[in-house]
Amino acid sequence: MLKKLPLVSLLMLLSVYQFSAQAEETVPLQHIKTNGTDYPSLQRGAEYFINYCVTCHGAKFVRYDVLEKIGLNKKQIEKNLILTGSKISDDMVVAFSSRDAKEWFGVTPPDLSVEARVRGPDWLYSYLKGFYQDDSRPSGWNNIVFPNVAMPHVLYALQGTQVLSDHADPQHLTAESLVIEKPGKLTAAEYNQFVYDLVNYMTFMAEPARETRIHMGYGVMIFLILGFALSFALKKEYWKDIH
Ligand code: HEC
Repeated sequence: MLKKLPLVSLLMLLSVYQFSAQAEETVPLQHIKTNGTDYPSLQRGAEYFINYCVTCHGAKFVRYDVLEKIGLNKKQIEKNLILTGSKISDDMVVAFSSRDAKEWFGVTPPDLSVEARVRGPDWLYSYLKGFYQDDSRPSGWNNIVFPNVAMPHVLYALQGTQVLSDHADPQHLTAESLVIEKPGKLTAAEYNQFVYDLVNYMTFMAEPARETRIHMGYGVMIFLILGFALSFALKKEYWKDIH
């Protein structure tokens, strides 16, 4: 049994991962192909993320200097992207405390370090395009991909005000159920590009964090194996005179 333990835990982990990835995927998602080598897109995405998301969400497994990997130098990062007075070696932490956030929104906005790996790029893309006006919600917004979400549509000034179209079926909302009632600063194509860049960046951002977790996992495994070997040796030592 002991020999099979690692295999069993691996299978359990995989099934949990599968489950969380598949949950809530009732709405057909819009597909995008992220590109981790498109630096201009990633740089724009980083800027959008820091300007529009870090007020509420942290990315505590991501340090600002990771932006050097997408072609930005220290000066550019410090001058244009660090808005909170943090140092370049600091993590991207939220501007206000999670207690305040909980009071305002009813839920704490989750950390987004590895969100792109949890939900996937298609989900994120569809989510950021899926907000619509709904006066029955405390924030005034709802979302076709995440029904009754507590997050307000923080990008509505760019996208415009989206509403459900007259022939939308409330039981089966899709991207086609939505129409722009009042245009925002960006055209539909520009907004698509904006959201694409943002998701592209979030996908890139989740990778380095993932590497750290994998390394941490190996560290823990080695520690456990060493610990086991040590206690086994000790046990033998203790019992050898008794037998
Ligand atoms: C005004 C605060 C606020 C801002 C700004 C904000 N969010 Fe949120 N966000 C929230 C809250 C609150 C939730 C939790 C929603 C819930 O669980 O109902 C959330 C949830 C999310 C989720 C879903 C998390 C999950 O898997 O459950 C994603 C993805 C997300 N936000 C992305 C973003 C992105 C990208 C930006 C920047 C464009 C952003 N948010 C800006 C408050 C905010």
